[in-house]
Amino acid sequence: MYRLVRSVLFRFDAERSHRIALRTLRWLCAIPGVPLLLRLVYGVANPALKTHVMGIEFPNPVCLAAGLDKNADSVRALFALGFGGIELGTVTPEPQPGNPPKRLFRVTRHHALINRLGFPSVGIDAFLENLRRSGKPGPIGINVGKNRSTANENAVTDYVRSLRAVYAIADYVVINVSSPNTPQLRALQNRENLGALLLALKNEQVELGKTRSVFVPLAVKISPDLNDEQINDIADLILEHKLDAVIATNSTVERPGMEGELLAAEAGGLSGRPLKDRSTEVIRLLYRRLRGQVPIVGVGGIESADDAWEKMVAGADLIQVYTGFIYQGPALVRRICRGLLRRTRAAGCNTLEEAVAHARSGVRMMR
Ligand SMILES: Cc1cc2nc3c(=O)[nH]c(=O)nc-3n(C[C@H](O)[C@H](O)[C@H](O)COP(=O)(O)O)c2cc1C
Repeated sequence: MYRLVRSVLFRFDAERSHRIALRTLRWLCAIPGVPLLLRLVYGVANPALKTHVMGIEFPNPVCLAAGLDKNADSVRALFALGFGGIELGTVTPEPQPGNPPKRLFRVTRHHALINRLGFPSVGIDAFLENLRRSGKPGPIGINVGKNRSTANENAVTDYVRSLRAVYAIADYVVINVSSPNTPQLRALQNRENLGALLLALKNEQVELGKTRSVFVPLAVKISPDLNDEQINDIADLILEHKLDAVIATNSTVERPGMEGELLAAEAGGLSGRPLKDRSTEVIRLLYRRLRGQVPIVGVGGIESADDAWEKMVAGADLIQVYTGFIYQGPALVRRICRGLLRRTRAAGCNTLEEAVAHARSGVRMMR
């Protein structure tokens, strides 16, 4: 069925078809009974899939990655597709248009996307209005970034402002310092800049926790284009500043396995199948350095239960999908959940979390 829908959607420019698909889904979900029906078709309600990360209970570990619902205008519709959680954003403090079109490309042969959207955002105030209107049918992460016009020296101000604004409504907040499409953003990942940013945000989190009497975890999202030393440095900062999670990874500026592909020359972040192995490698490196003390959210090129399992055994406690969802359609969540349940049963475990822990210890013993 989705093949048919996809063949129609893929006739349009990529960004336009994303818009059409989301608008259609929102429209369908406004019809009474449809969200419930979609949940029955696409959701997998099984207690064995419950996943606990950052003190939050996710009904299943398959979440939507940041970037698809940047403005929080399709929250209910997306939850109806069975996601265990949704990460909204990236939202910037002030509204901004992002880069000029054309800025999103499908590389169909490789099941990949290249985007240079550059944080188009309605801004934090309109974003929060949208989210308040939709309510929260499940766990919601809010991914925050700085405005393009904000110099890196002042970036802390943007992130602190956003953290304050979303604190009351987010289940967790993500500091995005890894998008390749905002000039110099990724320089915020270097030791000195990231140290200052994490210190300021952790202090703010403590203050907000006191005044609002609620603890909202803070995660940082990193790039796949870092070398091993940089990854270890970031892991050490995460431990030093007691971050609550790390998300690995954002899209890549590399073009692995895409020799001879004309679209590879388009500037922007590559996501999907060609990113899969690199993002798993980053998760593995992080897991080794963090020694299980900080949860890892794994994202990059997941399009099957096997891909999800591979990331979980490498160290991911929760997974996210974006490009795979565009290519495989809404049944992807159900397919991954069912595959993970099969793995759980095959391992003789009662829960997926047990099965993953078991598989990781097996990997350690083999080393
Ligand atoms: C069109 C597009 C827009 C994205 N926008 C964001 C964003 O605003 N913030 C962010 O942190 N990641 C963004 N991402 C990155 C994804 O969240 C994800 O980290 C990356 O695509 C790898 O996962 P995937 O291979 O499943 O797509 C975007 C990805 C795509 C394809």
